[in-house]
Amino acid sequence: TAAEKDGHDWFMRKEIYEQPRAVANSLLGRRAADGQLHLDEMRLSDQDLRDIDKIIIIAAGTSFYAGMVAKYAIEHWCRIPVEVELASEFRYRDPILKHSTLVVAISQSGETADTLQAIRHARVQKSKVLAICNTNGSTIPRESDGVIYTHAGPEIGVASTKGFLTQLVACYLLALYLAQVKGTRFGDEIAQVMDQLDKMPAHIRAVLDQAEEIYALAREHVDSRSVLFLGRHAGYPVALEGALKLKELAYIHAEGFAAGELKHGPIALIEDGLPVLCVVPPRGRDFLHDKMVSGIQEVRARGARTICLAEEGDTSIEPYADVLIPLPSVPVLLQPMVAVVPLQLFACELATAMGHDVDQPRNLAKSVTVE
Ligand code: G6P
Repeated sequence: TAAEKDGHDWFMRKEIYEQPRAVANSLLGRRAADGQLHLDEMRLSDQDLRDIDKIIIIAAGTSFYAGMVAKYAIEHWCRIPVEVELASEFRYRDPILKHSTLVVAISQSGETADTLQAIRHARVQKSKVLAICNTNGSTIPRESDGVIYTHAGPEIGVASTKGFLTQLVACYLLALYLAQVKGTRFGDEIAQVMDQLDKMPAHIRAVLDQAEEIYALAREHVDSRSVLFLGRHAGYPVALEGALKLKELAYIHAEGFAAGELKHGPIALIEDGLPVLCVVPPRGRDFLHDKMVSGIQEVRARGARTICLAEEGDTSIEPYADVLIPLPSVPVLLQPMVAVVPLQLFACELATAMGHDVDQPRNLAKSVTVE
């Protein structure tokens, strides 16, 4: 009913708007008075975690993209090598798993069969398994050695939104906790990043305030046959997630690319008027941002219609952006939390304008319990 949807037309739209709260809830109570991080339900001991020399993240769908973001964060903050793999591929390729390997399974529902089979395989090989999950008491956390619960509340829309954002929170918390336990040189940064995470709900609200502009933009694209998404670094998984949302909901061909790979193939796809959504990294001391800008220049020179998501006040992108969507100023590793929101709004509105059922897209299920 409309009441259950808080006056929104779709559960998905309601859940997009719940994201500031969901993120705040997932951060709640993680920091003690002494500034130390606590992950109480985690169950793995600090000694277990200190022995870890490799992490393999396994997941499916949107959860897999949260895992990709986690790799950038964990490797940067903890200096532990991380692999991210689709659960369905991991299980059947005879992966190398040791006692010192931590397998992190990310699953909103906790029931995805591919992910469940993958953790069973990992445990037989004596690896430790940590679940990141939104559903209390579901199968995946029950069969894991430890769990970090996300506190998104029930997610009804088939396409994951607040589930994804809270998975990102859990991944950052895990990364920061590992850094704390291992005492890496990024230890001092932990408090700083936690402060930045505490500001995320307000930043997400600022993005949601631009919904009307994004909806109008989405409605302009009802006749698009294909849409591309570009990103770099932590923005690359965001591009993949933006494309997935459009496939799932609007049934439009959509693909996400790592911007640096453009020249190795995808640029051949660019033709006049093709919409390309670009996630521009914040301006920083490295060359990430400038490389992205030159990629955008390249596609625009070939006729693409560039829709750029960039840090507010980033004027360098203006000459190459047909449409500019400003994002709150946050560090590159946290940018996915704000950059994905316009892409969720875009896909939701575009699918609505096309007359599709946004909460129950064709051929898809919220939780896939068959391999
Ligand atoms: C299904 C859903 C996706 C979801 C994926 C993984 O395919 O349609 O939205 O991302 O499963 O689900 P999980 O519950 O394991 O995160």
